[in-house]
Amino acid sequence: MQCKHLRTIADLTREDIEEIFETTTALKRQDVTTALDIARGKTLGLVFGKPSMRTRVSFEVAMTQLGGHSTYMSQSDIGLGKREAIKDIARVLSRYVDVLAVRTFGQEIVDELAANATIPVINALTDYAHPCQALADMQTIREKFGTDTTKLKIAFIGDSNNVARSLAMVCCMCKTPMVVASPEGYAFSENFLHRLQAYAGEDAQFFSQTHDPQAAAKDADVIYTDIWASMGQESEAEERREIFRPYQVNADLLALAREHVIVMHCLPAHRGEEITDDVMDGPHSVVYDQAENRLHVQKAILKILLENGRG
Ligand code: CP
Ligand code: NVA
Repeated sequence: MQCKHLRTIADLTREDIEEIFETTTALKRQDVTTALDIARGKTLGLVFGKPSMRTRVSFEVAMTQLGGHSTYMSQSDIGLGKREAIKDIARVLSRYVDVLAVRTFGQEIVDELAANATIPVINALTDYAHPCQALADMQTIREKFGTDTTKLKIAFIGDSNNVARSLAMVCCMCKTPMVVASPEGYAFSENFLHRLQAYAGEDAQFFSQTHDPQAAAKDADVIYTDIWASMGQESEAEERREIFRPYQVNADLLALAREHVIVMHCLPAHRGEEITDDVMDGPHSVVYDQAENRLHVQKAILKILLENGRG
């Protein structure tokens, strides 16, 4: 992998993505104790400005399983951008830890840390992107349907948010058709659509958006949803609950999809809002395999970035 950071999926080439999937699959097959040399003596710094369960724990366990350590710093504890300049934090942390994973609000914070760090910086979720999630999602889709995903239909039903954006980038790079169904006013910007087109290649058409959840779900192989109000949008939650109600992933919507459809959710889920209990707990749901893959994909990302650093 050529890139030094994982700020967004745009840091990766198609070949980098393939390397991540191959490394993930190999690490998954391997006895965990045989990977202990990969990060021996290395430390992952975790700087988090928003709550997390999956991302924090899977990164910490990933470092343990690779033979290294991790240290958690809340964004407010280190006063990111408040107590001292972001570039000073990046330069000092680069002297202590070997790789940094950052969860925060603005993408520009991750970009500024990366621009000033001498170690790899990984985006552990911003308002704009969640690249580790999207890579784990595509890993899960490949495990369920095989590595040729070009004939699948991925339907994302809900808010065109960080999770949808990163998955759309991965889908375009992997030539996998994806449609996002969201209410008016909650679709991707024209600017982002142009960027997606660039990832897909000039004449290719892998991405579309609609306001019609039923049309999106029809004949889908994958139905994906996420919460309607992301972290930082709590004050809009009530309003969004009304606006997004027709976009709930429930048994009626699922009935429109292919028989073998898998249901995905990055979690945490608001059961009874964007997804019903029967669908979440039903036979099509792969949400826990998907959550598990966060660990395996992040082990692969850490391995590759730490090895790059050694070079
Ligand atoms: N999916 C995900 O990133 O979960 P957490 O917010 O719990 O880390
Ligand atoms: N879109 C959600 C994802 C949580 C993992 C959020 O940003 O809160």
